[in-house]
Amino acid sequence: MPALVQSAAATVHKSATTRENLRKTLLDWYDQAGRELPWRVKGALADPYRVWLSEIMLQQTTVAAVAPYFARFLTLWPDVAALAAAPRDDVLREWAGLGYYARARNLHAAAQQLAAQGFPADEAGWRAINGVGPYTAAAIAAISLGEATNVVDGNVERVISRLYAMETPLPAAKPELKALAAGLVGPARPGDWAQALMDLGATVCTPKSPTCDACPWREACVAFATGAPGGYPRRAPKAERPQRFGAAFRLQRDGALWLVRRPDQGLLGGMAALPTTDWRGKRFTRSEAMALAPVEARWTKAGEVRHVFTHFALTLDVYAANAAPAGEGFWGDAAGLPTVFRKAAEIGSNG
Ligand code: ADE
Repeated sequence: MPALVQSAAATVHKSATTRENLRKTLLDWYDQAGRELPWRVKGALADPYRVWLSEIMLQQTTVAAVAPYFARFLTLWPDVAALAAAPRDDVLREWAGLGYYARARNLHAAAQQLAAQGFPADEAGWRAINGVGPYTAAAIAAISLGEATNVVDGNVERVISRLYAMETPLPAAKPELKALAAGLVGPARPGDWAQALMDLGATVCTPKSPTCDACPWREACVAFATGAPGGYPRRAPKAERPQRFGAAFRLQRDGALWLVRRPDQGLLGGMAALPTTDWRGKRFTRSEAMALAPVEARWTKAGEVRHVFTHFALTLDVYAANAAPAGEGFWGDAAGLPTVFRKAAEIGSNG
């Protein structure tokens, strides 16, 4: 879109009546069409423990994936004192499968901070809590404290980039989008406002085929007026994910698996795992893998597992044996393993 048209559109949206109208139409839409979610209370402030826990779980993770974990955590640890008192390995075990495991380590540390000092009274206070970044602090403060913060995640960026037909590609557009979103925040119902924007992005203003017919902002949306709203946000081309390789070793005894605990620093830090080689750019030959196995044994290839992490894709050759283990480790089961190791534990095995 020509810059002049775009800036005219942005100017229109900045008028007070338009902003007021945008606020009202979105909040009305939320009251009717906003999702009912386990951690959500529409039209009121929500409990800070539930809001904090859900917002940490929802970082980079879908509502559908989070819901069962949220329910299970609340059953096991109904309040922050209970979570703070839990052994950390129990928390990591219950987090298994949700991904981004630094969140679980930080959650446990944060529970201890929160249990000791109480819940923060504002957005700045939340930012000082372990694992709570600017986005999460803004979301918690809006939803549990009613503070008129500016809550901008990927969904919201998409909505705002379409509303204004932002031609600057992501990620460079982030600060501009954030400023435009800030211009829309009003004093009324900040928690509902934040969640309404998220829901609009998640359910209507979706990445590929937005359902503009159902959108409360259709009349105001500059991208809709262009006829190709799905083309926003513009994006700088992404670099390809590098491919890495490793070998994992599965020792089994009476249905139990020999596990190691990964070091706190690094990927899957603190989690239980199968013993593995390091992960590198070149595949390990069988003999290279055997030289790195935790014990000498008759290893058979059980299969290979592929898993996509944020910054690389991993292919693991999985070797299995029945042998006495050596070195540091413990007998456990697949249930508490991160997904890549759960797959490795299960591939080519009959139980
Ligand atoms: N994503 C992050 N926080 C959320 C929330 N409170 N509701 C829905 N989706 C979210």
